[in-house]
Amino acid sequence: MIFSEGLTTVAYIGAIILFILSLSGLSNPASSLRGNLYGMIGMAIAVIATIFGPKVTGAGIPWIIGAMVIGGGVGVFAARTVKMTQMPELVALMHSLVGLAAMLVGFASYIDPGSTASATAAEITIHHVEIYVGIFIGAITFSGSLIAFGKLSGKIGGKPLLLPGRHLLNLIALIVVIYFGYQFMHAQTVDAGLTPLIVMTVLALLFGIHMVMAIGGADMPVFVSMLNSYSGWAAAATGFMLSNNLLIVTGALVGSSGAILSYIMCQAMNRNFISVIAGGFGGGAPAPKSSTGAASGATAEPAGEVVPISAVETAELLREAKNVIIVPGYGMAVAQAQHTVYEITKLLREKGVNVRFGIHPVAGRMPGHMNVLLAEAKVPYDIVMEMDEINDDFPNTDVTMVIGANDIVNPSAQEDPTSPIAGMPVLEVWKAKTSIVMKRSMASGYAGVDNPLFYKENNRMLFGDAKKMLDEVLTALRG
Ligand code: TAP
Repeated sequence: MIFSEGLTTVAYIGAIILFILSLSGLSNPASSLRGNLYGMIGMAIAVIATIFGPKVTGAGIPWIIGAMVIGGGVGVFAARTVKMTQMPELVALMHSLVGLAAMLVGFASYIDPGSTASATAAEITIHHVEIYVGIFIGAITFSGSLIAFGKLSGKIGGKPLLLPGRHLLNLIALIVVIYFGYQFMHAQTVDAGLTPLIVMTVLALLFGIHMVMAIGGADMPVFVSMLNSYSGWAAAATGFMLSNNLLIVTGALVGSSGAILSYIMCQAMNRNFISVIAGGFGGGAPAPKSSTGAASGATAEPAGEVVPISAVETAELLREAKNVIIVPGYGMAVAQAQHTVYEITKLLREKGVNVRFGIHPVAGRMPGHMNVLLAEAKVPYDIVMEMDEINDDFPNTDVTMVIGANDIVNPSAQEDPTSPIAGMPVLEVWKAKTSIVMKRSMASGYAGVDNPLFYKENNRMLFGDAKKMLDEVLTALRG
């Protein structure tokens, strides 16, 4: 032990303050680097204070360092190799590890006689409640996150699995969990308590699988954010089991911020929080990659003519425009076209064109996906606007360039009450004088819904890979 109890507490308080500053920094692209830095320093202080604090004996340090080297190695490898489009899968996998850790700590803490050696009867009861609840949340987070990973990576189909009487099944499982909780709390020996604990764990694992299997592909982003929240509560429960205040506070920060993010995402997708949990929406997603425009979830077939445009004609329209809004989506991330987008933006701005970006809250495949890509390409933050800030400006815009986006610019969300995405707020790109949609085919987007924007009179389609087409537009603009 190098850190005394008092010094460890001071270090923990410092880490907590840094975590809070980190969260507030991450709320804005301009301060996000600073936010990340605060988080990293806070975590370093937390880890050092824990390892060298009063709870770890000298014999345990080599084990911890060995685990850190292995875990850190895996983390560095994952961070370097995972593509930006695979981030949601990686996040889901990380959440599963938090759940697994909570489960393992729960069992270890129950079996370890030292954990309650000098505790009173009341303290033991509280400790056992913490263990039972902690393992329950951890097991749901673990299995649910693994299924989320499978769905996001396409290893498991996006179609929701809706078992008959599934809500009743969940209710019965909950009653059984409460019954075994009672058995666990009244067990006289550790051996007798292990049986109800294991039964509850198995039920919680099955519950996690069942819960996420019932979620449709289109609701997965919200659900991953909710699993993020669960992982925070699992970490907080671990903190209670280990009597570690830092873990309790950090877990609560993650738990509550994940819940707030889920709520914001629900609003952005016009989904009701409860109906997301109840599951079922978006069975067609990820959307079939049809090049004919036949979308799985389509209701009213859009009518009209699709007018293609060339890269050279696009460059001409852009050159003549005074106001341009660029709307990026998932396709820009796939094509890695953000750098070319910025080159075009720079060129147009030098020519006096007012170029801005319109970002939908769920554009791409994770919160802030587009902001990250644009920041990477060094697009200035002051021309990157949120949907609410820019939606009223489309009628005064000459050209909107939609780059690999589909659902987030789909007018049927406003015009077709029978559409699966009816009511979802969208960027009203069709209100500009001309809108140009850049994508490879007529295929539907993530929600599997056909898009009437492509058939509007003032819309043009620039077919092809976004990077390739933008390179051609850039060449034409330079020429
Ligand atoms: P989508 O609706 O998925 O549309 C993306 C479009 O990009 C596709 O229609 C595709 O058409 C095109 N595309 C793909 N690769 C391309 C390439 N290399 N070059 C050019 N175009 C390409 O994306 P969106 O508009 O960004 O909307 C996001 C959707 O994902 C929403 O439904 C949202 O709810 C959901 N979602 C969001 C998140 C978060 S949190 N952001 C997470 C998961 C899911 P082609 O195949 O014809 O090229």
